[in-house]
Amino acid sequence: MRDYQRLFIDGDWVVPIHRGVFESVDPSDESVLAQVAAATAEDIDLAVSAARRAFDKGDWPRLKGGERAKVLRRIAQSIRERQQELAAIEVRDNGKPLPEALWDIADAAGCFDYYAGLAEGADILSEQSINVPDERFSCSVIKEPVGVVAAIIPWNFPLLMASWKVAPALAAGCTVVLKPSELTPLTALELADIAHSAGLPAGVLNVVSGLGRDAGAPLADHVDVDKIAFTGSVPTGQKIMQAAASEIKNISLELGGKSPFVIFADSDLDAAVEWILFGIFWNQGQVCSATSRVLVERELYEPLLMRLVTAAEKIQIGQGFTEGVKLGPLVSRDQLEKVLKAIAVGQEEGARLVAGGTRPHHLPKGYYLAPTIFADVPEDSSVWREEIFGPVVCLRAFDSEYEAVRLANDSSFGLAAAVMSRDTERCERVARQFRAGVIWINCSQPTFVEAPWGGYKRSGIGRELGEWGYNSYLEIKQITQYNGGSWGWYSS
Ligand code: NAI
Ligand code: MG
Repeated sequence: MRDYQRLFIDGDWVVPIHRGVFESVDPSDESVLAQVAAATAEDIDLAVSAARRAFDKGDWPRLKGGERAKVLRRIAQSIRERQQELAAIEVRDNGKPLPEALWDIADAAGCFDYYAGLAEGADILSEQSINVPDERFSCSVIKEPVGVVAAIIPWNFPLLMASWKVAPALAAGCTVVLKPSELTPLTALELADIAHSAGLPAGVLNVVSGLGRDAGAPLADHVDVDKIAFTGSVPTGQKIMQAAASEIKNISLELGGKSPFVIFADSDLDAAVEWILFGIFWNQGQVCSATSRVLVERELYEPLLMRLVTAAEKIQIGQGFTEGVKLGPLVSRDQLEKVLKAIAVGQEEGARLVAGGTRPHHLPKGYYLAPTIFADVPEDSSVWREEIFGPVVCLRAFDSEYEAVRLANDSSFGLAAAVMSRDTERCERVARQFRAGVIWINCSQPTFVEAPWGGYKRSGIGRELGEWGYNSYLEIKQITQYNGGSWGWYSS
């Protein structure tokens, strides 16, 4: 492993002012993977100042989109060339199975390419004229980068979540201070190297690893930050909103979910089993959009449950590099304990545990948890209502389309929702009734960089990805010019 004990600030690798380090752990065997630089408020101040200078005085925000795109394309290319190596780091730092890590890295490269395309296609600085109903005035609109962006990201898709924020922010001409999660900081530090080698000017992207309290909080609080882009938990999202309030910073929040998957009785049983499993067990269920509440039409409920339990018990659990493994360890001991506690509470609340619920016996070391299924889950139980963020799915039966939609929408979250039926009209109808930002029909989870991503209600504010994600890093400026004679208000 290379040395990760430096922060990337203003184009240089620097030792944190207080020389702090923290340990990043490999969750498959609980070994220390790396000692990582721990930033504190002083380092954050240096990083934000560098980003501020690069924004206020540097070329990056003033370049033509096509020029920025060249750098983004080189970043994409370099991520692609290093796909195997980056995926291997991700497997060790996060625990996810290698095929998923390879997929993440390919998507990260794709994200940089996509935003390079947007930067090339639309020169944001070019004017768009607006018709106003008074011929003495001409009015135009331009877009400008929002400024210095604090990007604070979680541990579930480390490099991919970095890319979802860094790529559109850079494409738009912003400068960035990126703080990765302390649980999975390594690929964000690699991204600093990649961006530097791709010719990104000093100060445009700064990467500061560190703890939430010591590095994340001062970053969110910093007066020179114009926008905070955050993905993570609701409680931290609430702190981010409070930090943003003092300077009325622009924010985007992508928080948790408890997404429903409605399965009608006419569904293909094999397809239903496959997509339910994928919807909750990929990435160990540590997915904000995981379809963790499954609603099944009553006549299909018992047969589907039986099939689901059999299929879940066949999922190969183990270390992410092992061939055939589809479920790795959870990211940390804390996360495993949190999920085990939620399972215990679910049993106390009267949910019927039909699969998993414990650590697999053949894996005494590592933060593993067997795929867990709860049936007949009470509507008011916390396992039904609160995000668990682990491989735990809850099932309930329903009797009518009306009831299914009501149960699906009865949640304080609204990130995603899915519906399955052979009746396409019914799918369309239900899709339109869901109160959520991302809807899947006859599938769950597939995500495209071109399409908007984000939630209703407690799941967040704003949209990432697509042109929506790009626009979230742009300010809108109107320029109105008077071409008439004397205004004549006071002089008449
Ligand atoms: P978290 O929300 O605390 O951490 C996310 C990021 O915020 C990390 O980079 C962290 O260092 C930073 N952070 C923490 N406190 C901060 C503060 N006061 N100011 C600024 N930044 C701060 O999530 P954590 O603790 O890693 O996981 C806890 C739970 O959050 C999980 O069990 C899961 O339920 C949920 N979660 C949801 C995610 C999602 O994508 N919706 C992703 C990760 C976690
Ligand atoms: Mg780790």
